[in-house]
Amino acid sequence: MRTFAILNMKGGVGKTTTAINLAYLLAAEYRQRVLLIDADPQANATRALLPDGDWAGLAGLLGGYATVYDEVVVSSGIPNLDVIPASDALWEIDLRERTGDGPLHGTANALRDLRDNAMEDDAYDVMVIDCPPNFSAACVAAINAANSIIIPVLPDAFSADGMDSLTMQISGVRKLHPDVRVAGCLVNQWHRSDVVVDATAYLRENAPVPVFDTVIRRTDKVLEATWAREPVQTWSPFSSAARDYRSWVKELVEKEGLNHGALAKPSFGFVGRGNARERVPFSPQAETEQSGLCGDEEGLGNG
Ligand SMILES: Nc1ncnc2c1ncn2[C@@H]1O[C@H](COP(=O)(O)OP(=O)(O)OP(=O)(O)O)[C@@H](O)[C@H]1O
Ligand SMILES: [Mg+2]
Repeated sequence: MRTFAILNMKGGVGKTTTAINLAYLLAAEYRQRVLLIDADPQANATRALLPDGDWAGLAGLLGGYATVYDEVVVSSGIPNLDVIPASDALWEIDLRERTGDGPLHGTANALRDLRDNAMEDDAYDVMVIDCPPNFSAACVAAINAANSIIIPVLPDAFSADGMDSLTMQISGVRKLHPDVRVAGCLVNQWHRSDVVVDATAYLRENAPVPVFDTVIRRTDKVLEATWAREPVQTWSPFSSAARDYRSWVKELVEKEGLNHGALAKPSFGFVGRGNARERVPFSPQAETEQSGLCGDEEGLGNG
């Protein structure tokens, strides 16, 4: 079983969007059994994949109220995709840890133990963890459980300062978990402008870790999908970002050796929950209409 943590201490760079799309695509198209863990008390990934509910979730596990993963796992309604939701209670876990007012012994290893138990049971093929933009207890637990880290970055004005902060973050992560690999940086919200093109080139030349070939374009379809509470893959399957995420997951699957024979053959059927749209058959015309290529999107030619 492989565990990817989607991490960047900077806020708003696309961690949650990436976690949702990665988890969705591995489940729906690559037929992997995926567990998405929402480690951010903002609970954005939870809201995108589950109806509102009073879940014990990750806080139940970190707080020691739940001891086995199947007590906190919730089915997303999308085949092969389960979620361990986040909730406000994660803030309390942090508060209790900071004030020394909690039985938080073992919190740092809680997700690693969960991963090992799920492996023993052969319950999942991949775990994807959406991290918060800070080194909270849940984030530390996520790093400790991860095999590979994926770092979404925004390319606007990626300067020497941005590179220093990236390098510091990576060395911080390696101090916590020396064996963890950084699979790469993923450039998000790419759009055609001099500063973005220059910053992306600077990042590719200077980053201390690999940068994925695929970039994810900026499009309002991602924002619309957030409001609709579903992955952009189902909301607007032919939008630029949805197609870029499909190219990127293909790149990741190849680079990370996630090929498990038939499991890794994408099937390209857009499977949704009840409120998601039906799959729209592909046609070039549908692509132009759906993606709004004449609007805010730019032809990049990824993949
Ligand atoms: N490719 C994209 N095009 C346009 N908007 C995007 C794109 N990717 C993400 N966004 C938007 O940017 C905002 C931040 O994205 P997201 O929530 O994924 O970032 P995050 O790193 O998880 O943030 P936080 O650090 O607060 O958890 C959201 O409103 C999201 O809809
Ligand atoms: Mg987020």
